[in-house]
Amino acid sequence: MRKIIIAGNWKMNKDASETEQFCRELGRYLQDHDPEGVLPLIAPVFPYLAQAQNILRNLPVAVAAQDVSSHAEGAYTGEVSAAQLRSLGLRHCIIGHSERRQYHGETDALIRAKLLRLRENGIRPIVCLGETLEQREQGLTEQVILRQLEGCFEQVDMPSGEEAVIAYEPVWAIGTGKTASAGQAQEVHALIRAWLQKRHGRETAQNIHILYGGSVKPSNLRELLRQEDIDGGLIGGASLQNEAFHAMIGIAAEASKGN
Ligand code: PGA
Repeated sequence: MRKIIIAGNWKMNKDASETEQFCRELGRYLQDHDPEGVLPLIAPVFPYLAQAQNILRNLPVAVAAQDVSSHAEGAYTGEVSAAQLRSLGLRHCIIGHSERRQYHGETDALIRAKLLRLRENGIRPIVCLGETLEQREQGLTEQVILRQLEGCFEQVDMPSGEEAVIAYEPVWAIGTGKTASAGQAQEVHALIRAWLQKRHGRETAQNIHILYGGSVKPSNLRELLRQEDIDGGLIGGASLQNEAFHAMIGIAAEASKGN
């Protein structure tokens, strides 16, 4: 059984003291509530990763970075390498978020290079994919998703499915309050799993986590998690408040027990 992943993508939010406060409250919550069947994860900005990691040490929660350099080391001002993330003990990193694709011109080839760097360092990439509203309206969703999968995972070996997490995030649903309906999301998740099965075999397709992202919140998470191929959420806005984040961990814990 795949664990449910509840991942908070904080984007460029929270300063040092807000990060500390959130992590302390999350730590208290996790001491009182065993998130059985769920992996909670938060992705603060680079400068506070170590702080978050220290506060949450030994608790059942992962701290992730939001991006990584495609270079190994050296003269790349402003970049952070996969080895540097590994030296903090991080095991997860988001790559290819649509905001990086849109504002920083990231391509599937670049995302693939980042994925390989993370893999070299034993860090599990959370690879984001998704179509724009225009592409959906033109009936191009399937084509776009398959192209992104082919580009990001070209000749990437994935024998077990533990090597990566995929996050399907329709661009039109991010930060807009418009969630894809559970049915719309499931349709794309099933497409992704079928592609994985074809390219990487049944075991990989069954083990890999496919998260949905785009205006996920406590009120719509339960329905999304009822879908066969949705294994969790990559959550922006609603992950920033402790109360909502804890509620979503609780909903996922219930869902993992089949309630
Ligand atoms: P949102 O963001 O939950 O605020 O829509 C999701 C994401 O961009 O990962």
